[in-house]
Amino acid sequence: MPCFIRKIIIILSLFCFSFCYADITLPTPQTKDGMSLFESLKKRSSTSGGGFPAGQVSDNELSTVLWAASGLNRGKNGWTVPMANGNSPYVRIYVASEKGTFLYEWEGHYLKEINNKDIRADIGLQNFTRRAAYSLIFVSDASAFTDINPEQITNFSYTAVGGMSQNAYLAAAALKLSARYIHSIKPEVISQELQLPEGSKPLGMLLLGK
Ligand SMILES: Cc1cc2nc3c(=O)[nH]c(=O)nc-3n(C[C@H](O)[C@H](O)[C@H](O)COP(=O)(O)O)c2cc1C
Repeated sequence: MPCFIRKIIIILSLFCFSFCYADITLPTPQTKDGMSLFESLKKRSSTSGGGFPAGQVSDNELSTVLWAASGLNRGKNGWTVPMANGNSPYVRIYVASEKGTFLYEWEGHYLKEINNKDIRADIGLQNFTRRAAYSLIFVSDASAFTDINPEQITNFSYTAVGGMSQNAYLAAAALKLSARYIHSIKPEVISQELQLPEGSKPLGMLLLGK
């Protein structure tokens, strides 16, 4: 192989290593068996911040919690959470982890890489939030709406976060994971790290750990 071609390949590989991000395929979520809904309702709780565990959550567990929070459950137009006017989810979930930050794409059920930085220590106002294996960050997407006022968008978005986080809490309880909803976040830092477009607003996050 000519020397200049070898050089080009090396340069392209280095470039890709630094700037190309990889999406992550999630395993099929658990949608049957396991703990009953009523038992998980009885078990649902927030793990205390001080005692929040730093253990790993498996890809299967993460996949199931994300699916519960806003996955498709009825063909191409039905989700596990209700959305105003039957819209597709206008609150998106970003996943902050040791490996980087990702956007949960419910269509296709995979994680789209946003960056390869571990931002967990920078996005919460309470120190313990950095310990969780995953922070699921709820971000409203105002561009999903065309004909309603900003106050209504905020109301609809927080209503969606309530449904999504409760579904995630119940899935976490069923999988014996730790979870805690956190409103005390740093929206400006999150917006910058996630390169959020105009109109997208971080609303809160759910810690997930084991
Ligand atoms: C809207 C909302 C905001 C919350 N914000 C925080 C927070 O910023 N920090 C925190 O440690 N817990 C936060 N929590 C968790 C609550 O403190 C927790 O749900 C409450 O103590 C009740 O406990 P339980 O979930 O086990 O029933 C929040 C919960 C909700 C619903």
